[in-house]
Amino acid sequence: MAQLTGPADDVPSMGRRQFMNVLMFGSEALVAAGALYPVIKYFIPPSSGSSSGGVTAKDALGNDIVLTDYLASHPAGDHSLVQGLKGDPTYLVVEEDKAIANYGINAVCTHLGCVVPWNANENKFMCPCHGSQYDSTGKVVRGPAPLSLALAHANVEDNKVTLTPWTETDFRTDEDPWWA
Ligand code: FES
Repeated sequence: MAQLTGPADDVPSMGRRQFMNVLMFGSEALVAAGALYPVIKYFIPPSSGSSSGGVTAKDALGNDIVLTDYLASHPAGDHSLVQGLKGDPTYLVVEEDKAIANYGINAVCTHLGCVVPWNANENKFMCPCHGSQYDSTGKVVRGPAPLSLALAHANVEDNKVTLTPWTETDFRTDEDPWWA
């Protein structure tokens, strides 16, 4: 009696086909990733991280903030903006003994997100958008802003100012940080 011939394993089983598909897809994805890597890398700025996992604070031109240079041009009591974590505008505070405070203040208003300027005459941050005010540490003292300005740790590594996330209790309110 005639018999249909051909070993059954000539036709790949469903499982084997799926495995082959995964292999094919995987290798195509690898090739694509390899081709795209230089393109993606081009858009990622060179690492500006510090050894503590933070970022090096930058000036408006993108240069690292060098502590001795910074203190030479920023007097005690100064609150000036640098680029901080995630590129957020962040105030560094120069203390009376010509040192940087160990915290930076995120300048983004907790009301609707305006960048809040420092008013040296009033010794406060005063938001031009809807009138919120914050004291010299960024603690909210007048609404409509519902919360104080966010903090970051400010440190010095190799004479450069670095900023790292502040996840501990907010020293101004003794509460958990709302931004962490
Ligand atoms: S955005 Fe600052 S008060 Fe509204």
